[in-house]
Parts: sequence; structure tokens; C-alpha cells
Amino acid sequence: MKHGHRIAPRRVSFDWRETPLHWIPDEPTATHVVNVLHLLLPAGERWFVKVFKEALPLVTDEALRKDVKGFMGQESTHSVQHSYVLQHLAEQGLDTTPYTRHVDFLFDVLLGEKPPFGLPVTAREWLRFRLAVIAAIEQFTAVLGDWVLRAEDVDAAEPDPVMLDLLRWHGAEEVEHRSVAFDMYEHCGGEDPGRYARRVLGMAVTAPTLFYLWGRGAAYLIRNDPWLTGRLRYTLRQHNRAVAKGLLPSWRELGSAVPRYLRRSYHPSQEGSMQRAVAYLATSPAARAAAGAVGRAAVS
Ligand SMILES: [Fe+2]
Ligand SMILES: [Fe+2]
Repeated sequence: MKHGHRIAPRRVSFDWRETPLHWIPDEPTATHVVNVLHLLLPAGERWFVKVFKEALPLVTDEALRKDVKGFMGQESTHSVQHSYVLQHLAEQGLDTTPYTRHVDFLFDVLLGEKPPFGLPVTAREWLRFRLAVIAAIEQFTAVLGDWVLRAEDVDAAEPDPVMLDLLRWHGAEEVEHRSVAFDMYEHCGGEDPGRYARRVLGMAVTAPTLFYLWGRGAAYLIRNDPWLTGRLRYTLRQHNRAVAKGLLPSWRELGSAVPRYLRRSYHPSQEGSMQRAVAYLATSPAARAAAGAVGRAAVS
């Protein structure tokens, strides 16, 4: 409980049976840009947990160790819940495995336990680099999490309530644990200036890679959507239309997360609103059901 807030997983579950393919009605571009989360997160968050498991013996601070364990529990739950959405997409005729195969290769092979291509990097440096990448990714998940909690225009578009709850439950937990990956990196990243330089490198690798994967992912989903049958293409124009409607975060909001992160004095405890996150988790149908199940288990 490094910052006075205990981080623990909520054992949620979601029923996807009623969720339509275009869960924001008549907005396939916004729907699929958001759906890219389901393509990247099952493998990505599973990988976070693996890397943190590797790094856990390096943690000498008891409070940080508790945060890291809570973080690992939350991320593995996120990973599993998003993978169920992929199953649901497949059941609706949208097979995502040709795309997720590349994502699996990225996390399991390129960013695996050993540096790829026999790169001459020590085991310690390779671990620190991967921790820097996780901290950089978590900068974006915190920004996106806070965005989805504030996105009233999405509510106005009458999205599927189960999907919205998944996104907001996940977004709220991202805001809740926004500092953990950064603290973990700072703790294990060695001395400055090397530590700061690697933090910059982590973001320099992460931001363009995410941007690329997102564009490719959205294009894949739209191209293979059985309801669209090739009538729509993913274009910047369509994307910006959805941004103008408030159905996606603006480029400025996403872009400004980078220079903020690169400030030497930066700490993510100021990202988003913890109050908003905690308030959502208190009303989220999935989180409440999970809390009820835990409560019942404790009583019986
Ligand atoms: Fe997550
Ligand atoms: Fe996270």
C-alpha cells in the first residue's frame, strides 16, 4: 500500500451472449478501434505478469511488493476477460487469430525471457528494458482508462452495457494501479542517468509500436467484419469522425501523454482521477457482483 490504496484483483465475469458485433450501434469504426484492446491485451497483460514474476525477487520494499502482487492479479484477470471477448467475436464470425498470432510472437518471442536475435544484452539489462516498456504501456492504459470513465458521449451513443462495463471496470483498475509499473521500473532500473535514459527508450519503442499495432488491428477487424463485408475501410477520416463525436480519445490527449511521461520529475500518481476510478468500481455491475461473491464466500 505504497500510496495508501490497496490494490487487489476483483474476480469479475461478463455474459457476452447479448452483445452485438457492433456494440456501439451504427459506429463500426469506433467499435473496432476500441476492439483492438481485445487483440492486444490478452497476450500483453499475460506478458506483464510473466516479466513481473521474473523481477519480483529484485524487490526489496515490502509495500512495493504488495502493490506488484495486486497489479499482477489485476492484469491477469484483465487478460482472461479480454480473451473471452475474442471468443465472442469468433462466434460472431470474426476470427482474430491471424492477427493475434503476430501479437503473441511479439510478446512471447521478441520480448520473451531471452533477448531476440542473440542480441548482446545482459539478462539484467534485458529485464530492465522490458520493465521500462511495461511502465510506458501503463502510461497509455492510465490515460485510456481515465478517458473511458469520462466519455459521456459514449454513453449517449447507447453502447452495449456489458462491453461498457468491461471497459470501465478495466479502465478504473488501470487508474487505480497507474503508478505500480513505474515504481517497479524505478526500483529495479538501477542508477541514473542510465535509468532515466532507459525510461525514455522504453517510451520511444512503445509509442510507435502501439500506434502501428492499433492501426493494423483496427484495419484487420474492419476488413474481416462479416457485417460490413468489405464495404468500409479503416481511414483517418473515419477515425477522426468518431473522435469528433467523442467516441474515441483525441490525438492530442493521447499524444500529450508522451512528453508528460518524458519529464524527468514525472510520476504517474497524477494521471487521471483515482476518485473517479474508485467511484466507478463502487457502481460497476461486474465489480459489485464480484464483491458480492467474495462476501458470500466469506460468510459460508
Ligand atoms: Fe489491465
Ligand atoms: Fe495496467
